Amino acid sequence: MANMSINLVLYHGSLLPHELVPSQLRLSRTRVLATNRALQVCTERWSCSASSFCCYCFHFKGCSCRWKRLVRSCFTTESVIASDENYGNKQVVSLTPRLYDYILKNVREPKILRQLREETASMRGSQMQVSPEQAQLLAMLVQTLGAERCIEVGVYTGYSSLAIALVLPESGYLAACERDAESLEVAKKYYHLAGVSHKVDVKQGLAAESLEFLIMNGEAGSYDFAFIDADKRMTPKYFELLLQLVRVGGLIVIDNVLWHGKVADPLVNDSKTISIRNFNQQLMEDKRVSISMVPIGDGITICRKNRLIF
Ligand SMILES: C[S@@+](CC[C@H](N)C(=O)[O-])C[C@H]1O[C@@H](n2cnc3c(N)ncnc32)[C@H](O)[C@@H]1O
Repeated sequence: MANMSINLVLYHGSLLPHELVPSQLRLSRTRVLATNRALQVCTERWSCSASSFCCYCFHFKGCSCRWKRLVRSCFTTESVIASDENYGNKQVVSLTPRLYDYILKNVREPKILRQLREETASMRGSQMQVSPEQAQLLAMLVQTLGAERCIEVGVYTGYSSLAIALVLPESGYLAACERDAESLEVAKKYYHLAGVSHKVDVKQGLAAESLEFLIMNGEAGSYDFAFIDADKRMTPKYFELLLQLVRVGGLIVIDNVLWHGKVADPLVNDSKTISIRNFNQQLMEDKRVSISMVPIGDGITICRKNRLIF
C-alpha cells in the first residue's frame, strides 16, 4: 500500500497534483475530516492563508512518497512577502500549522475556558467558537480599557463571553445576546462553574432587537466594549446600534473580517463574502472610528469610537 501513492489537491474545483498548485499558495491548517480504514486513505482538508482556496489532499497512510514530502515542504514557509513594491518587500508572518501550534502553546488559557472548549468541540457548530488566542486578546482589550460594561453579539456556548466575564471586575456587566437556547444552556453552565453568572446578563432573542431595547432603555453611551460575532450579513446593523451604545473611547471588535481569506479573492462573490467585504470597505471610510484589522483567528477589526469634531 505504501508504494501506491496519490496526492491530489482540489484547486479551484479541479484536481491537480500538489506540485502544480502555485508555489505562493501557503497551506496553513490541516484537519482530518475522514479516515477510511479499509482503503487506508486519509482525507485532509487544507485551507490556505494566501487565498481562499479549499484544498483536499488525499494520501495513503504511512506513505512517504514525494507527494507527501512536497506537502510537508509547504510547512516550512512561514512568511509572506508583500507583493506590492511600495511596501518595500516587507516580510509578514504566514501561519503554518507548525507556527499556529507554537502560538497555541503560548496562550494562557484558563482551565475553565479549556474545559468549555473541549466540551464544545463535539457539538454542532464548534468551528464558530473564537480561537484561544483571540479570546486572550479580547480579554486583554477589556482589561486594558478598564471596561466595566460590555456587550457580546453571538454567544454560542460562551467561550468568548466567558473570557470577557472572567476579567471583568466583580461589579462588571456583560450583556450577552444570543438567539439559540440550546447553546445558551452550555454557556450558562460555564458562567456558573466559573463563578461569573452575576456579571452576565443573557439576552436571549434576536440580537438587533436586544440592542434596540438597550438603546430605548437609555443605555446609549454607557458601554465600554462590544464584540460582534453573529450572523455576518447583520454586522453593519449591529455596528450602527453598538456605535450608539458604546462610549467615546470605547471599543467595538468585529470577528471574521477576513472570512477565511475569501474577502481578498475576487473570484469569491457569495452574499456573505460580499457583505463582509463591503463592511470592511465602509469601515475604512468611517471617521467615527479609528480602526485596526488584525489577522488573528479569522481576522478581527478593532474599532475605537472617536469623538467627532465638526
Ligand atoms: C460565531 S457564533 C458565536 C461564537 C462565540 N462568540 C464563541 O466564541 O463561542 C455565532 C452565534 O450567533 C448566533 N446568532 C446568529 N444570528 C443571531 C441573531 N440574529 N440574534 C442572536 N444571535 C444570533 C448563533 O446562534 C451563534 O450561536
